[in-house]
Amino acid sequence: MTERTVIAIDGPAGSGKSTVARRVAAHLGYRYLDTGAMYRAIALLALRQGVPLSDERALSALAREARIRLDGDRVFLGEDDVTAEIRGREVTRSVSPVATVSGVRRTVVERQRVAWPGEALVVEGRDIGSVVFPDATLKVYLTASPLARARRRARQDGRPVREVLAEILERDARDEGRRDSPLCRAEGALVLDTTGLSIDRVVAMLVRWIRGALAE
Ligand code: DC
Repeated sequence: MTERTVIAIDGPAGSGKSTVARRVAAHLGYRYLDTGAMYRAIALLALRQGVPLSDERALSALAREARIRLDGDRVFLGEDDVTAEIRGREVTRSVSPVATVSGVRRTVVERQRVAWPGEALVVEGRDIGSVVFPDATLKVYLTASPLARARRRARQDGRPVREVLAEILERDARDEGRRDSPLCRAEGALVLDTTGLSIDRVVAMLVRWIRGALAE
C-alpha cells in the first residue's frame, strides 16, 4: 500500500469538526472525507425504503448495496444529490441508531479505507484515529462543552438551545456508549477544546501544528 499522509479528526457533534476539517483540508490541499455523511446517507436510504431502524440485518444489507459517492462538498446516493437532505432533522434523528449497527460500520469503514488511494487525506468522524486509520500520520480530537456545542448548532439551525442541547446529550451518550467503535480519544491524539475559540482560530492553530509536525 502507498504510504500517504492521513490527518484523522474525531470529536462529538457540534465540536466544529466538519467546518474545521474541511478548511484544514483546503489549506493543505488534501482531500476531505466526511465519514458522518456516509452514515447519514444510509440512514436516509433506510427512511426512504421504510426499513425499521431496529432491523440490523436489513440495515447491514442496505449499507452494502448503497451507492454513496462523496464529491467535494456534495453527497450522492446513486445519481441523486442528497447533500441537503442528509442534514435534515429526520436523518439527524435516525442516524445514530444506524451507526451503531456493526454490519453497517464494517461496510462503511472498508469504503473509507479504500477511498482515493494514495492521496493525502483529512478524514473526519468519530472512530477515525482509533479504528479506520489507527496508523494515521496525525490525530486530532476536537471537543467543546455541551452547551457551547448546542449553541453553535442552535445558531446554525435557528432552533432553541435547550432543545438542541437535549439532542446533543442523547447523541453523545449513544455514540460514546455503543459497543462497536465508540467515540473516544485515540491514543496519541492532540486534544483541542474549542469552547470559546472561533473557527478561524482553531483552523489556524491546527494548520500550524500539522505543518510543524509534518516538517519534523
Ligand atoms: O458527524 P455527523 O453528525 O455527520 O455524524 C452523524 C452520525 O454518524 C453520528 O451519530 C455519529 C455517527 N458517526 C460515526 O458513528 N462514526 C463516524 N466515523 C462518523 C459519524
